[in-house]
Amino acid sequence: MSRKRVAILISGRGSNMAALIEAAKDPGYPAEIVLVLSNIADAGGLAHAQENGIETAVVAHKPFGKDREAFDRAVQDVLLAHKIQIVCLAGFMRLLTPWFVSQWGGRMINIHPSLLPAFKGLHTHERVLAEGATRHGATVHFVTPELDDGPIIMQESVPVLPGDTPDALAARVLKVEHRIYPEALRRIASTP
Ligand code: GRF
Repeated sequence: MSRKRVAILISGRGSNMAALIEAAKDPGYPAEIVLVLSNIADAGGLAHAQENGIETAVVAHKPFGKDREAFDRAVQDVLLAHKIQIVCLAGFMRLLTPWFVSQWGGRMINIHPSLLPAFKGLHTHERVLAEGATRHGATVHFVTPELDDGPIIMQESVPVLPGDTPDALAARVLKVEHRIYPEALRRIASTP
């Protein structure tokens, strides 16, 4: 079995990235993480990737100004240079253009901290608490041009408990994220 070549795109601390890297250390895992790319030069996750012997790249978005597609094309060049087969978004805080998304149809996945289609967008934990929802969770889905949309691959829920703060809820959801993202990638990478 040849393992699928995966790039992870991050903008921050990269705890989901770390979970994927950990899972891929198993030689039986169907994907290898060959590249971590960030739009932020000092994203915390980059150091962790390097410590694990994974190549990193930075494509800063600022020089591209409002030209989102030019930024996306620069990212695409790096992905193609590394012969990437699957892209995992893991806290990558850039909206991707329809052009970029179309290059990766069925081969780009994202993790989102809510039970999609509920609570798309940012600040999900705060919004869940404000609305008084009793369940929350995380979703891994294929990326389509619409934000936090696209077919769901895996989803798992957690309870919202009395007295929860956004941070407490986020920590509960993050544990689920770290479990379902590697499992979802395993499923995607296992399909020919
Ligand atoms: C996670 O909550 C993920 O679901 C969301 O952004 C956060 C990234 O966290 N898309 P980390 O960088 O993986 O720790």
